[in-house]
Amino acid sequence: MTAFLRHAERLQALETRGRLRQLAPARGRDFASNDYLGLAGSEFLRRAMAEALARGVPVGAAGSRLLRGNHPEHEALEAEAARFFGTEAALFMGGGFQANQAIFSSLPMAGDLVLHDALIHASAHEGMRLGPAHVAGFRHNDVEHARAMIAEWRASGGRGRVWIALETVYSMEGDLAPLADFAALARAEEAVLVLDEAHSTGLYGPLGQGHGARLTDVAMVALHTCGKALGGSGALICADRVLVQTLVNRARPFVFATAPSPLMAASMRAVIAHLQGNPACIAQAAALRAHAHMAGRGLGLSLPESQILPLVIGDDQPALRAAAALQAEGFDIRAIRPPTVPKGSARLRISVTGNVTRDDIDALFALIGDLKERGYR
Ligand SMILES: Cc1ncc(COP(=O)(O)O)c(C=O)c1O
Repeated sequence: MTAFLRHAERLQALETRGRLRQLAPARGRDFASNDYLGLAGSEFLRRAMAEALARGVPVGAAGSRLLRGNHPEHEALEAEAARFFGTEAALFMGGGFQANQAIFSSLPMAGDLVLHDALIHASAHEGMRLGPAHVAGFRHNDVEHARAMIAEWRASGGRGRVWIALETVYSMEGDLAPLADFAALARAEEAVLVLDEAHSTGLYGPLGQGHGARLTDVAMVALHTCGKALGGSGALICADRVLVQTLVNRARPFVFATAPSPLMAASMRAVIAHLQGNPACIAQAAALRAHAHMAGRGLGLSLPESQILPLVIGDDQPALRAAAALQAEGFDIRAIRPPTVPKGSARLRISVTGNVTRDDIDALFALIGDLKERGYR
């Protein structure tokens, strides 16, 4: 008999609804991770880490950045990231979740409006929940809806600044934000664009700077996570110096956390240098993506222009069955269910990672074709 009966009951309720999650080891060909350039387990990253260790970079920071935890490697990475991503300053955080928490809880001020896309990541919601600004959501990728909401807010007396929160590539849909239109809206409203580039960094822009890199004349905060295409962990918030200084002084996930590993900072700096010296790695990811899009025609996949190809099945059970059938054949594919995605849109999230080949993609899509014909039974 557990001493935590209410917790056990909650888990039981999840199980009854088919929503109980279990941790499972990574097995099979990697169509599930966000390792889009295949860097996470690469020889390149191993070597970069070994070199940093050899020159004495410590594993642990052993303190908050504002106390003894600040290391020259953090600052070197931030200087390099600011240069590479084209902003005045950058701040290295332990992860993208923390970074979004920091951005939305401490940059928008009382009296401001944070307008977010309906499909924005849970970590942005977490930050908004903690911040003082008014928060509202607009329909996914619907610029006109956002415009109308700003007008309504102003008409009702809203006087503060507007912050528009988008993902440049949506993590579960794989589609892109209509960035040029949102940038025009932000310019017209003197709003700030907050761009989560998690699934774009390392893949788009001339050298992997992300989709936002091409925008000019618009106030912007960009989040580049290091745990996806860059193959490590952590996140870089890139913005004007005054905003970065605000985060350093006011963002609780920054102030009250042990600084990220200096070894990781050194490694991520090496990855940024690698992107600049090897544009071929981005071209390879783009070629694999193009192959997947071509091979997936006719399967009912929504085919956005990213490495993320969602196959929306609808109900949870057929999605789980389809994932299990593919896993049994040696493909690591996961079913994504509510609340991660909207109700009734359970799906297979097929991620074209740097760890698969064209043959793997062809074999996977042949199997999915069979499963689909059998109605995912
Ligand atoms: C769009 C988006 N933002 C933020 C995060 C959080 O980043 P991290 O995994 O580095 O905490 C994720 C990761 O799942 C994500 O997909």
